[in-house]
Amino acid sequence: MGTGGHRDPAHVAGGAIRDRPHLLASWPRLLPMAPAFRLRPHGPASARGLEFDLATNLVGQPLVRQQVMKGLREFLENPNPVKPLVMSFHGSTGTGKTYVSSMLIRYLFQKGLQSPYVHHFSPIVHFPHAELIEQYKESLKRWIQGNLTICGRSAFLFDEMDKMHPGLIDVIIPFLGPSWVVYGTNYRKAIFIFISNAGGEQINNVTLALWRARKDREEISLQDLEPAISKAVFENPQSGFWKSGIINEHLIDFVVPFLPLKHHHVKQCVISELVQQGLEVRPGVVQEVADSIPYFPEEEKLFSSTGCKTVASRISFFF
Ligand SMILES: Nc1ncnc2c1ncn2[C@@H]1O[C@H](COP(=O)(O)OP(=O)(O)O)[C@@H](O)[C@H]1O
Ligand SMILES: [Mg+2]
Repeated sequence: MGTGGHRDPAHVAGGAIRDRPHLLASWPRLLPMAPAFRLRPHGPASARGLEFDLATNLVGQPLVRQQVMKGLREFLENPNPVKPLVMSFHGSTGTGKTYVSSMLIRYLFQKGLQSPYVHHFSPIVHFPHAELIEQYKESLKRWIQGNLTICGRSAFLFDEMDKMHPGLIDVIIPFLGPSWVVYGTNYRKAIFIFISNAGGEQINNVTLALWRARKDREEISLQDLEPAISKAVFENPQSGFWKSGIINEHLIDFVVPFLPLKHHHVKQCVISELVQQGLEVRPGVVQEVADSIPYFPEEEKLFSSTGCKTVASRISFFF
């Protein structure tokens, strides 16, 4: 156990990280007495920048743009929020959840995910052992509290929530609600983002049903999806939110559903990737890469089973 309390990453990981020092590199860094002015100047410029970036680079996710922009504006425009901003990203693999979260963080913090005020947790790395859950609970609570004491505008990202042991995440409930202070710290300017595949199946089913009812993807509303997502994550022991007070007490401000991507979206991902790699955009290659990905359902083959996740690695096979 480290003597530095919440400032010692090995403490939070219950010693598991200390045994594998290379993993320390992936731990959120904490600078003692770090000044808060390294945050990006918050303001309309950040919101416009993100809006433009999402409009240009994110494909097929109208609800994501709408929800993330609402959340960001609220976060930027209110100097005295009544509670921290809590967003939860849901959708199946490769639909852009990690991509959008890092984009959002980039507009809020200099150095983006590398900022000392951005804390990125992944259960496999940081909470790997089920038997250490009580230790993780205590450490996670102290980690959040310690970091919010240093910088109230900190961000906490919980990726791969579906791999989180049920019960662990509820320890952060006191930080998410509308109380004035917890443990002597004002925590209402923080931002919490949860990311999970849980609810993805429900989103895919609703999107498919609406497609069959000849409803355009752009017409899908949050109300079509939100109840199904909340129910799914609350009732699924593998969601990380199983029977969680975070759902029950309605502590999530913005549920952000990521829809399954269609063939033409995958083609756009291929084009972006080719441009990024400095390769020539040949229509034949774009078509071939997009065709090589599996689509579901079996019959109509409408949606990519892996979103755009494998696009980058596939390109070399076709060049
Ligand atoms: N909707 C999207 N628009 C544009 N690119 C996307 C989209 N979804 C995924 N991608 C591309 O695929 C990669 C993998 O997506 P990622 O965000 O990691 O998926 P996940 O939802 O599983 O976190 C991203 O880095 C990005 O290049
Ligand atoms: Mg991801």
